[in-house]
Amino acid sequence: AGRPVLVVANAGTVNTVDFDDLRAIAALKERYDFWLHVDGAFGAFAALCPEHAALVDGLDAADSVCVDLHKWLNVPYDAAVQFTRRPDLQVEVFHNASPYLGVPEGDPEFLHLTPENSRRLRALPAWFSLVAYGRAGHREIVARNVALARRLGAGIEALPGLRLLAPVRLNVVCFTLAADPSRERVAELARAVAASGEAYVTPTVYDGVPALRAAFSNWRTTQADTDRVLTVLAAVSG
Ligand SMILES: Cc1ncc(COP(=O)(O)O)c(C=O)c1O
Repeated sequence: AGRPVLVVANAGTVNTVDFDDLRAIAALKERYDFWLHVDGAFGAFAALCPEHAALVDGLDAADSVCVDLHKWLNVPYDAAVQFTRRPDLQVEVFHNASPYLGVPEGDPEFLHLTPENSRRLRALPAWFSLVAYGRAGHREIVARNVALARRLGAGIEALPGLRLLAPVRLNVVCFTLAADPSRERVAELARAVAASGEAYVTPTVYDGVPALRAAFSNWRTTQADTDRVLTVLAAVSG
C-alpha cells in the first residue's frame, strides 16, 4: 500500500503482434491505483484503419502511451512520440536544473521534457510526413503493409517446409521450420535467404522456438516484393 505501481501494457508485441485487452486493464484502475503505460511502438498505428482499430480499443484510457515514428511513420531514426496525462510530472522528473537553462515556464516545456538536453529537431520530418501524407496516406500504408503480411503468412502456411508460429494479426509474420527448428537450422535458413540476394530476414525466438520474423512497415513495399520473398523462402526451405 502507498507504493507506486506501473503497469506496462502491450499494444503490439514484437514477435507476434499480440495486443493486451487495454479496455479491461484500464477498467482495473477503478479498483486499484496504478499508472497505465501502453507500449504502442508500432501497434498504435492500427488505430488508423477501421478494420484493425479494435486492437487498440481502450488506448485512450492509458496514462501514457509511446509510439515510434521511425517504424510505421517511416521517418528516420530515432523519432518517437509520447502522450501523457501528467506533463507536470514529466517536467518535474526531467527538469534540467542549471541556471543557464532557465526555469521551466513554457507550455509545452520542450527543454525540460526529456533526459536529452541537446537534440535534433526530430519533429520536423514527422511533421513533413504528416502534412504530405495525412491520415489517409498513412492509413493506406498501414492497410497495405498488413495485407502484404497476411499474404506472406498465407504463402508460408502453404509451404510444406515452414510453419507459422502465430496468426498474422497485423504486420509481422513469425515463422519457423516445420521440422526440427533448431537454432542452427533456422540460422542456416536465414543465411540461405540472405545468400539469395533477394531478401534478408532476421532471427528471433518465440516461446522458446528459434524462428524468423518478417515485419512490414516500409512505405514502398509492394505485392511483388512480398512474392519475391515467398519465392525465395519456397526455394530454400525445401
Ligand atoms: C513493441 C516495441 N516496443 C519497444 C521497442 C523499442 O523501441 P526503440 O528502440 O525505438 O526504443 C520496439 C522496437 O523495436 C518495439 O517494437
